[in-house]
Amino acid sequence: MAALIWIPLLAGLLAGAGGTEAPQTTLQPVVGRIFVHTLNHDPFLHPPEHAAPPAVPVTYHAHLQGHPDLPRWLRYTQRSPHHPGFLYGSPTPEDRGRQVIEVIAYNRDSFDTTQHWLVLVIGDPEGPLLPYQAEFLVRSHDVEEVLPSTPASRFLTALGGLWESGELQLLNITSALDRGGRVPLPIEGRKEGVYIKVGSASPFSTCLKMVASPDSHARCAQGQPPLLSCYDTLAPHFRVDWCNVSLVDKSVPEPADEVPTRGDGVLERDPFFCPPTEATARDFLTDALVTLLVPLLVALLLTLLLAYIMCCRREGRLKRDLATSDIQMLHHCTIHENTEELRQMAASREVPRPRSTLPMFNVRTGQQVPPQVDSAQVPLILDQH
Ligand SMILES: *[C@@H]1O[C@H](CO)[C@@H](O)[C@H](O)[C@H]1NC(C)=O
Ligand SMILES: *[C@@H]1O[C@H](CO)[C@@H](O)[C@H](O)[C@H]1NC(C)=O
Repeated sequence: MAALIWIPLLAGLLAGAGGTEAPQTTLQPVVGRIFVHTLNHDPFLHPPEHAAPPAVPVTYHAHLQGHPDLPRWLRYTQRSPHHPGFLYGSPTPEDRGRQVIEVIAYNRDSFDTTQHWLVLVIGDPEGPLLPYQAEFLVRSHDVEEVLPSTPASRFLTALGGLWESGELQLLNITSALDRGGRVPLPIEGRKEGVYIKVGSASPFSTCLKMVASPDSHARCAQGQPPLLSCYDTLAPHFRVDWCNVSLVDKSVPEPADEVPTRGDGVLERDPFFCPPTEATARDFLTDALVTLLVPLLVALLLTLLLAYIMCCRREGRLKRDLATSDIQMLHHCTIHENTEELRQMAASREVPRPRSTLPMFNVRTGQQVPPQVDSAQVPLILDQH
């Protein structure tokens, strides 16, 4: 496809020219179209002295000059060190201008590094607008397998059988992994899947419209195949998920958002607005006094009552008073008196040492002292008499 923006593998000829400066390549991506650049081993690994063997493992690191990472629109992918790396993406209008990408290649055998500059001059697309855009999920491929120009143009040619005449162009290619897809199980034939977005100046075919119709979506939701009224020309080579086709029609310009205008900050006069009548003056003094004085008064009364109970109603009435505190006091007094009485009674007789302290067995003499019988064994009441 002639219009496919495909920048062929470049040879870093400047490197071969023998300068010590890092080789530099200028490329011209176009806004809104897929840009693919293959990072091949050759420009990095052919120092003139010794030609690199073909199967040297090489990895790459690419970043925007002066920044740690790539610009937002550009992605890097490489399947393995034995495969080429790809820089790909679709620039947005904000990316217009010049971007310099530094690519460093690491030779995994010799640990050599080589530096390379890519100067991207991003411009606007030429030719007709492509308002009819369709995105397909190709389940039979990984992203690296459709980035090279051959499979990409083969996809477009095959899609031409579904989409009526008109030039088709690749707008965007995204790995399904970047869109929430899962890494497949390592089973033969399972692929990550890739989203391919195609644009055209001519309207969608009825076949495509039908695939993306609500009826089809309803069938997909029930696990049935969607309505495909035409022959799937992509079928043998590309397995497209016909449930995930999305069509965007940009031929009808979206109504421009109305820019809000700033007023002078004063509302216009509204004949139906009726402001509330003026409020009459009210005196809040009585309310305030009642609110404050009533609780104060109650508190004062309670204090007085408590003080009276605590101070004046205690003396001389221990036996008769039923107030709780007084009952407790009474208890306390009786216990105290009884203890005193017992102590006096104990003091009036000879109290032997506690038996537990008596030496029942003399260790030195081996003599056993029989426990003494003492008056403490006599019941207390008898002893009193
Ligand atoms: C291309 O696809 C990626 C991933 O879906 C998206 O982030 C990006 O905005 C797309 N670019 C354009 C120009 O639509
Ligand atoms: C693909 O289609 C299925 C069925 O309609 C839907 O559930 C799923 O969300 C779609 N996936 C994406 C990434 O759009």
